[in-house]
Amino acid sequence: MTGARESVIVTGGAGFIGANLVGEILRRDPGAHLLVIDDLRSGSFSNVVDACRRIARSPYTGELIAQDAGALDWDELLDAAEPRAVFHLAAITDTTVSDERTMIETNAEGFAPILHACAQAGVPLVYASSAAVYGAPAQARDRAPFPEDAAGEPANVYGFSKWLMENQHRALTEACARTGAPTPHVVGLRYFNVFGPGEGCKGKMASMARQLAGQILAGGRPRLFADGEQARDQTPVMDAVRCTLAAAEPGARPGVYNCGSGKATTFNALAGAVRAGLGTTDADAPTEYFEMPAAVRRFYQDFTLADLTSTADGLGVRPQRDPLEAIAEYASSLKSLWERTGSLDSPP
Ligand SMILES: NC(=O)c1ccc[n+]([C@@H]2O[C@H](COP(=O)([O-])OP(=O)(O)OC[C@H]3O[C@@H](n4cnc5c(N)ncnc54)[C@H](O)[C@@H]3O)[C@@H](O)[C@H]2O)c1
Repeated sequence: MTGARESVIVTGGAGFIGANLVGEILRRDPGAHLLVIDDLRSGSFSNVVDACRRIARSPYTGELIAQDAGALDWDELLDAAEPRAVFHLAAITDTTVSDERTMIETNAEGFAPILHACAQAGVPLVYASSAAVYGAPAQARDRAPFPEDAAGEPANVYGFSKWLMENQHRALTEACARTGAPTPHVVGLRYFNVFGPGEGCKGKMASMARQLAGQILAGGRPRLFADGEQARDQTPVMDAVRCTLAAAEPGARPGVYNCGSGKATTFNALAGAVRAGLGTTDADAPTEYFEMPAAVRRFYQDFTLADLTSTADGLGVRPQRDPLEAIAEYASSLKSLWERTGSLDSPP
């Protein structure tokens, strides 16, 4: 391991958002030493290679530790690597996993050593929480933006594991305040629905934009739960990456923030943007609606929308892309991939 000041640690760096983050770090600072920690349970080396080619426009120059992030000795790791920041994105990301023990052990318990070692060593830490911590707050019924304090009743164990991570962070912040110790530079980001290049490994957890594009390109019709008017905050991946990097900057205020587009996109509008990007019409590929199964209904978020007021104040960052435009552009890149390879199995 290289003990350089300019190293950056990215857990989950072989995953979708993590690899895009790695690419952007190297684009901004080609001399940075990247240390990716990823046990490759849902990620792949190919995400790193592709993101570096796509974003940094040069090959990956760092290391990859293929181990469970929560099982490492983080005091030792930080001592040896002396990173300027740690981005902790590693997690079980299949929101349908119902093995509660594994989800909580991996996502929440695995976070504790990272949080405490970074706080102790004074290393800025940015970690991935999720819009899943909101469940279905009152704002969802009113189709209004979700302020950060509306969270706390997640509807699935994945969301609960993220809430437990935030609880550890809040407890640490409170303990510091009680003892008069400085607040550690720790930022939790509640990513909303992130989409874009590099999500090829996510299978059924890939974004709706990718799934609908795949259905149309394969000659089928886009399939949506009736009546398609459910709406989600669809976040272009590079806006999520910019927000993530801003959170590690010295001026960022520690805390937990929403990371989204600030716009609610209905699935009908999303399908329209996908069609536009693919160059098809409603008549060519009309939407097929189907009833939501009862098992899905119990956990389903009909509406999500990030309130970005605190994010702008605390992190000094705002989304740059319009989600519908970014979806159409993404669909168009998927079409080119399909035409080149006959599948969407490889990136983007
Ligand atoms: N993509 C989204 O829309 C979205 C939304 C909300 C939150 N998030 C969060 O953002 C983060 C990144 O998500 P993503 O979409 O890139 O998912 P992803 O599955 O592509 O990436 C997660 C990565 O973490 C790795 N990983 C999992 N458990 C690990 C462990 N214990 N040790 C080391 N590596 C491990 C996986 O192999 C994978 O490469 C996750 O924490 C996820 O919960 C994502």
